[in-house]
Amino acid sequence: MCRAGDPRTRIENHCTISMWIIVPLVLTLTAQVWSNVCPCAREELCQPIRTQPAFEVFVFDVGKKAWKFYDWTKVTTVAAFGEYDVELMCYAHSKGARVVLKGDVPLSYIVDPVNRTAWIQEKVQLAQSQFMDGINIDVEQAVETGSPEYYALTALVKETTESFHIKIPGSQVSFDVAWSPKCIDKRCYDYLAIADSCDLLFVMSYDEQSQIWGDCIAMANAPFNQTLTAYDQYISMSIEPQKLVMGVPWYGYDYSCLNFTKDGICTIPKVPFRGAPCSDASGRQIPYSIMMKQINSSISGRLWDKNQRAPYYNYKDTEGRVHQVWYDDPESIALKAAYVAQRGLKGIGMWNGNLLDYSSDPIAQQQTADMWNSLTPSKDRESAVFS
Ligand SMILES: *[C@@H]1O[C@H](CO)[C@@H](O)[C@H](O)[C@H]1NC(C)=O
Ligand SMILES: *[C@@H]1O[C@H](CO)[C@@H](O)[C@H](O)[C@H]1NC(C)=O
Ligand SMILES: *[C@@H]1O[C@H](CO)[C@@H](O)[C@H](O)[C@H]1NC(C)=O
Ligand SMILES: *[C@@H]1O[C@H](CO)[C@@H](O)[C@H](O)[C@H]1NC(C)=O
Repeated sequence: MCRAGDPRTRIENHCTISMWIIVPLVLTLTAQVWSNVCPCAREELCQPIRTQPAFEVFVFDVGKKAWKFYDWTKVTTVAAFGEYDVELMCYAHSKGARVVLKGDVPLSYIVDPVNRTAWIQEKVQLAQSQFMDGINIDVEQAVETGSPEYYALTALVKETTESFHIKIPGSQVSFDVAWSPKCIDKRCYDYLAIADSCDLLFVMSYDEQSQIWGDCIAMANAPFNQTLTAYDQYISMSIEPQKLVMGVPWYGYDYSCLNFTKDGICTIPKVPFRGAPCSDASGRQIPYSIMMKQINSSISGRLWDKNQRAPYYNYKDTEGRVHQVWYDDPESIALKAAYVAQRGLKGIGMWNGNLLDYSSDPIAQQQTADMWNSLTPSKDRESAVFS
């Protein structure tokens, strides 16, 4: 999720520019201190994970201690987008799960090969000093086909993967891509070369209304058919299904309707984004935990859109304005998870693990368990959908 400069409040997203310009000095110093001193209870918990899971459950974590309540029978990789947490690293390793760094850099900086090498070296050293198992590269910048940045990005991924694999045997280098390879949000990358140059692509199958070219109305964050069609696009470019991890959203979009028709269509203000006249940027991202508290007091309760195969609901704010909220829940996620299994993708994951209610409230606990369970559907459900 990347909409730099967008003024509205949003969930901490994939776009937060890393502070790699200021931080390296400090990190190099701390790296010296940390090297070889394992902070875990047992020395072996500092060893990078070397085994490859048959199926990935790839979790973005944005900090604090929600990870303590994750379903660790499923998690295989945690991309640590929050502050470094020693306790998380030791715990993940005790469960055989990887913890990987976040990598982001302005592409104009790493067109220069010397700068690129320096950035990669810094990340490898950071990973080593923190006993991490790889890196998730989250560059979501607009890139033109054939530009210097276009080639530099591919080189960045290739050289990062080579360095990590040599310096940290068994480590994992992943790269985040938009829901479709068709220059979404002007991200015209060399997707095939990038896929060949890293261990896996995390496909961000959400924010699929970032560029609305048709009617400017509220729609699903990740419509079923559109989501799946885009995987066929990736695969038809000769990208192996085993390179692809499907990312699902654990958040929705709350749109304030300009007009709410009697058929329940919510027209939204025209907020342009990267060339498109209308965008989900007119909505507000809402965690699953918050929506589950709001839905029972909404005007409509949970509704299901048969075409988009997604849930939504309508509510009135204190000024009497109608809002439409589109989201994903265990039903819509299980449909996509069944496709992951049936198409033989490498795994599934979400943005982000922190967005559920991990309190001790029994209703919340059930909802949270249902969300985790929807990631890995049973064989029965799978054949029900695809037979
Ligand atoms: C190298 O990276 C720095 C930021 O660390 C940037 O200011 C500089 O312009 C880059 N040099 C080149 C030649 O791109
Ligand atoms: C699914 O999407 C594709 C591509 O957008 C379209 O051609 C096809 O008709 C859609 N199928 C259904 C059942 O909506
Ligand atoms: C709003 O919707 C109503 C009923 O569907 C329609 O008659 C009206 O023209 C719409 N208003 C605007 C401003 O689009
Ligand atoms: C909302 O209503 C549903 C259906 O009646 C119920 O199962 C659920 O527990 C309710 N949620 C809350 C937060 O009360």
